[in-house]
Amino acid sequence: MPHIRPVQPADIDALYRISLLTGDAGQDATRLYKDGRLVGHVYSAPYLALEPESGFVVEDEAGVCGYIVGAVDTPAFEARLEAEWWPKLRPLYPEPSGLPETWGADELRAWTIHHPRRTSEKLTDIWPSHLHINLLPRLQGKGVGAKLIARWLEAMRAAGSRGVHLGCSPLNTRALGFYRAYGFGELPFAGKRFEPVWFTMTL
Ligand SMILES: CC(C)(COP(=O)(O)OP(=O)(O)OC[C@H]1O[C@@H](n2cnc3c(N)ncnc32)[C@H](O)[C@@H]1OP(=O)(O)O)[C@@H](O)C(=O)NCCC(=O)NCCS
Repeated sequence: MPHIRPVQPADIDALYRISLLTGDAGQDATRLYKDGRLVGHVYSAPYLALEPESGFVVEDEAGVCGYIVGAVDTPAFEARLEAEWWPKLRPLYPEPSGLPETWGADELRAWTIHHPRRTSEKLTDIWPSHLHINLLPRLQGKGVGAKLIARWLEAMRAAGSRGVHLGCSPLNTRALGFYRAYGFGELPFAGKRFEPVWFTMTL
């Protein structure tokens, strides 16, 4: 039976692997990247490095097969990323040049490392915490996602959070259905290229 436990430093390779294997709107992104660690550099590893107390993994007999990571205070976390995380990566991934239309996935992520998104205060004033959840295919469709979210929300409540938000690719049909079914509220979709669908929950 898969069980949920707090994330630990030794889970770092599993986090990178799961990020890549679910990094294309929930599907395997391996074919898209020359450097497969780029997805984890943005979506999982910094959370383990900077806020491990807000992360959990799912482990079965074959190893770690899913995670949820996040931050209680998104603006404070983004400030720490700027001070402690992105500066280490910037020399390793030079800022891409040329037309963005010609960039592949590696260049798009490298751009993010140099120009990270700052989440709007309109979101974080009301729903300050945020999350990323990713399960390998062998774990999907079994109700584990809901258990992992429930465990994480419990941790956010215990940390005194007023509310949570998350961004989801408009192409990720399964995840959109999952968040709606779980009871997240949904903001009107801006419909712009690379814009996520925003989900929220007041605690
Ligand atoms: C998205 C994810 C977290 C969902 O967790 P899960 O445990 O696999 O969720 P389940 O498939 O068991 O679905 C739970 C409920 O969500 C709803 N749901 C799931 N897929 C759906 C779909 N395609 N359409 C509509 N509703 C859906 C259903 O209500 C479902 O309950 P039911 O099976 O009793 O009908 C997980 O599949 C995952 O990690 N996928 C890959 C990575 C990813 O996409 N992460 C999210 C990035 S924003």
